[in-house]
Amino acid sequence: MPDELARRLESLRAGGSFSHGGAGPRGLFGSAAGPDLAALAEFMSAARRRTDAALDEALPPGSQPPAVLHGAVRYAVFPGGKRLRPMLAFGAASAGGADLDRAMPVAVAAELIHTCSLVLDDLPAQDNNPLRRGQPAAHIAFDGATAMLAGSALLSAAFAQCTRLADPAASAAVGTGLADTIGSRGLIGGQIDDLAFDPSGASVEEVEHIHLRKTAALFRFSTWAGGVAAGVTGQDLDRLEAFGCAYGLAFQIADDLRDQDPRECSMLHVLSRSEATARMSDLLDHATREIEVFGPGGWVLAGLARNLAARSSREHRGAREALA
Ligand code: IPE
Ligand code: IPE
Ligand code: MG
Repeated sequence: MPDELARRLESLRAGGSFSHGGAGPRGLFGSAAGPDLAALAEFMSAARRRTDAALDEALPPGSQPPAVLHGAVRYAVFPGGKRLRPMLAFGAASAGGADLDRAMPVAVAAELIHTCSLVLDDLPAQDNNPLRRGQPAAHIAFDGATAMLAGSALLSAAFAQCTRLADPAASAAVGTGLADTIGSRGLIGGQIDDLAFDPSGASVEEVEHIHLRKTAALFRFSTWAGGVAAGVTGQDLDRLEAFGCAYGLAFQIADDLRDQDPRECSMLHVLSRSEATARMSDLLDHATREIEVFGPGGWVLAGLARNLAARSSREHRGAREALA
């Protein structure tokens, strides 16, 4: 996986995705007409609703002993955030022409891992964030030990989802893919390098290598595994994976642009705001081009890429056309 992640980064660079001044997202939505925001909004809200119902079903009731642990798990998962990783998994299934429900175990697994990563990331030993989504972080609402154990419970609940794909071979592939995504050469490796990050003398490549593992790996998993669950294979699957990877890198730049904590590893340590914004746009252009081959089936992924760009520009320049 690390080699694969590095290969993916190299191929993104080789594809010219970082050249500035590109033509902007094109293709599925057409730059003249723009995205069908109403359809995207409807999709996003249905995806959130259905993901929440599946998460609820996947987790033990809060009253089940040990109630403090199950309460902490549910506290971290609900009401939740944007549920973007599930949306990417559904978007990949849509690109593959499959019933979106086939990607539900992948969507749930990705959101459980994401939640686990936030619970652990907020601990005093890591980013020491007392708040998450405007509420006390899990280690504040409960305590550090409970938060660590809730994070571990979320991790194992995610793997349980990987056994639930319709095809046993797909289940095995997705389980192995998830282990690689999270492991010491994936998200966890990115997190430890993030903690040790020293901005003095840092390079764009160094920051990007951290972003690739701590953030983009899980987005990449979401589109790749969503594709596997939908029966996508070969080059088409590579394209879905490339989309998730480029989207994930762009997403972390958008987060860096929003959250300017000087203690944290950020693209803004190595690029100006306008350079970082241009890089994010190039990545989203690249992501969108990767999935043009899917035609109308790719509309969800194209819309999510477009919406990330619009959301970021709304936050920074007051543009209006974006969904939360
Ligand atoms: C926040 O991710 C953490 C990063 C990877 C930067 P999201 O912005 O997807 O978090 P929620 O789930 O919507 O709160
Ligand atoms: C969150 O990353 C955790 C992971 C990406 C695994 P950040 O530290 O960059 O995000 P926030 O600021 O806590 O949401
Ligand atoms: Mg953090």
